[in-house]
Amino acid sequence: MTIIGVFDSGVGGLSVLQHIRRSLPDARLIYLADSAHVPYGDKSAHYIEQRAITLTRFLIEQGADAIVIACNTATAAAATSLRQHFSCPVIGMEPAVKPAVLATKSGVVGVLATIGTLESARFAALLERYAGDVDIVTQGCPGLVEQVEAGDLHGIRTRDLIERYTAPLLSRGADTLILGCTHYPFLASLIRDIVGTGVTIVDTGEAVARQLQRRLLDEVGLKSDLQLDICRSGFSPATNDELFYTSGDETQASDIMSTLWGSVVNALQLP
Ligand code: DGL
Repeated sequence: MTIIGVFDSGVGGLSVLQHIRRSLPDARLIYLADSAHVPYGDKSAHYIEQRAITLTRFLIEQGADAIVIACNTATAAAATSLRQHFSCPVIGMEPAVKPAVLATKSGVVGVLATIGTLESARFAALLERYAGDVDIVTQGCPGLVEQVEAGDLHGIRTRDLIERYTAPLLSRGADTLILGCTHYPFLASLIRDIVGTGVTIVDTGEAVARQLQRRLLDEVGLKSDLQLDICRSGFSPATNDELFYTSGDETQASDIMSTLWGSVVNALQLP
């Protein structure tokens, strides 16, 4: 049995977990929402690093063969340190600059992300590597993560925030928008409604699931269930072998996770 440990500051990483479930239908997935400390976007890199070490240690104690940091902000702050502390594969994620640069026709790409991600050295290095001649316009989005955590995916306040954050990018000529935070895919239909069909929206969830598959094959070895997963990828129904933990309130977390995950979730309290 392959066990994958996945964590985020809150429920946003469920957008990544959906892709992982599709690509590894038979794996056991353990999801950990650090709800007591959400949002990460305005916290210091040191604080997030300490949280990430604690959460990863817990997931490995539960038997995780690999860890997915389903959070751009935590990847920027803690991926290097987690790889130093733990020997299993640690898969991080970052805004999809490379595919967006390939997709843009106007030569302007907008990035919606947390302040923590946008101000990180990792993001600067990503731009240095992939932006080329493309104009990358960034926009921090304070408050948007909280709207998703509250389950407000379509309300007036959420719409106002998205309008406010996308307007400067569109007026600069962006025809491609990067969702650089794992909470934002849950707002994709509202974002689409606001920016219109002419704008390409990209996120990283599917690429992370593919990268996880590759790393499992290379480093964990060919467990029989994993081979099966990969053969059937995309064709098999989910096994529902998922465990959900929260560092916050279990009832509240169960409610919002059930909505976003699409079936009943009984979140357990992180010990
Ligand atoms: N979902 C996270 C990300 O991808 C973190 C959001 C937050 O807690 O600020 O960046």
